[in-house]
Amino acid sequence: MSSSLLSSLLWTSSCAVILLCVYVYKTFGYWKRRGIVYDTPNFLVGNLGFLMRRSFFDYCLELKDKHPREYVGIFLGMQPALMVQTPELARNILTKDFDHFQNRNSFSNQSDPLGALNLFTVKNPIWREVRHELSPMFTGHRLKFVTELMNQNAKELVKKVQRDYVDKKKKVNLKELFSMYTSDTVAYTVFGIRVSVLSDQESPLWHITRNMVHFTFWRGFEFTMIFLVPVVAAFMRLKFFSETATEYIKKLFWNVASQRKDTRSAADKDLVNHLLQLKDNLKLPHAASDLSDKIMLAQAGVFILGSVETSSTTLSYALHELAYHPEEQEALYEEVTQALAKTESGVLQYQDLMDMKYLSACMYETLRKHPPVPYLDRLCNKTYKLNDEVTVEKGVPVFINVMAIHHNEKIYPEPKQWKPERFINVSDGDNLNYTFIPFGDGPRFCIGKRYGMMQVRAALAQIVQHFKLEPNEPYEVRTDPYSVLLAPYGGGTVKFVPR
Ligand code: HEM
Repeated sequence: MSSSLLSSLLWTSSCAVILLCVYVYKTFGYWKRRGIVYDTPNFLVGNLGFLMRRSFFDYCLELKDKHPREYVGIFLGMQPALMVQTPELARNILTKDFDHFQNRNSFSNQSDPLGALNLFTVKNPIWREVRHELSPMFTGHRLKFVTELMNQNAKELVKKVQRDYVDKKKKVNLKELFSMYTSDTVAYTVFGIRVSVLSDQESPLWHITRNMVHFTFWRGFEFTMIFLVPVVAAFMRLKFFSETATEYIKKLFWNVASQRKDTRSAADKDLVNHLLQLKDNLKLPHAASDLSDKIMLAQAGVFILGSVETSSTTLSYALHELAYHPEEQEALYEEVTQALAKTESGVLQYQDLMDMKYLSACMYETLRKHPPVPYLDRLCNKTYKLNDEVTVEKGVPVFINVMAIHHNEKIYPEPKQWKPERFINVSDGDNLNYTFIPFGDGPRFCIGKRYGMMQVRAALAQIVQHFKLEPNEPYEVRTDPYSVLLAPYGGGTVKFVPR
């Protein structure tokens, strides 16, 4: 190589390094220039250097301890973002000033239509229309009907526990067990099909859910990038749902849809029917057939993921806490026994489950201490004055640190303690002035909130009715570092002792 070529190569690479350093220096000075306290970033990765080694759940908790203040600047890679940590600011961002925060930061990319067009990630104006069309899926009337199915599946759950974890003495993986339970119900609510993976039947839905919730290093990375650094997800063309899960969803959806066309059945009230109507009703100018097909499939995908992932985590932590709290477990058992004594059918129906205050309190306290979604994300779509000192620029992600609120000792004394008594007499719709937000809030709150809670109630009641729970692992369970949502490392486990 000639010396002039060598020196021009050296010159170009030195310039590139200098430019990169200036860019990094300028970006990481973003919060300092605005006089906002920030979490010290590391070169290129910002504050995300821990990813895939520790969970974002743990980061949210540590951040509030390190910076116990109303808001703190963070860097999602090279992207400055604001983390707000009080109920008052949560109210403003989620509800009062929703106009400025209509979309989420989480986003997939054009090469991943199912990932980019589902209700969770899709942006306005499509979001508004899709939400409007899907809301009737979650009426109280419909939920009453679905509760019967949840009860039947909870019965199968009890049988499986007896068969596998009592008689055969296998060690239970709670997260997997409850993913099976929720998968059986969602098979019906989304596709109208009755299957039971819990009773060891072949279930096409289990192929989908198992693929969705199996967080290997790579799936964890894909998902984390879509949630936290969407620009990297777009660049690397990462996918919200795995290829395998996507193919299964497509196949199953079109199978069921074509049967509907043949039978012209209008009686089905599952998601497929709603989605076929949604396709007809979409008024978006660009709602070409291809786009509306993708929008339909995307909702089927997110309903499956939404109902399996979060509810199975809640149930896993609820059992873990009950195993370590025998007194509370006995109080719950008493409540279940008394409620059952009042029924004629021997099954706790929708209203019976809703009336059980201690059952609700155990569920709420689990959702407080272990919120499956530890932060809520929004993207500022219109410049916003947070207060007299801080203006949030358009394009800046704003996160609500749910952990900082749920674990604030001034709101919940001894926050690490699991105490259902905190929530006696609280009702499902109460966010306790934005101090209890496991389902988010405002127009983009969780559409499956009531469904999710009923699913947890039905399973908890039947498990506690039939088994005593005892600890089978240390109290402090590591969180899964590959999962951007909360999940117990290894799935979590307890010992079931028949009553
Ligand atoms: C224990 C159970 C559940 C928990 C803790 C939970 C939690 C959440 C949270 C925190 C959000 C974000 C809300 C916000 O940003 O303000 C959310 C959104 C969402 N959830 Fe759930 N969820 C649960 C069950 C479900 C179920 C059963 C479904 C579906 C049947 C579901 C589907 C969705 C969807 C589609 C969204 C996006 C809503 C939108 O942006 O309009 N979730 N969920």
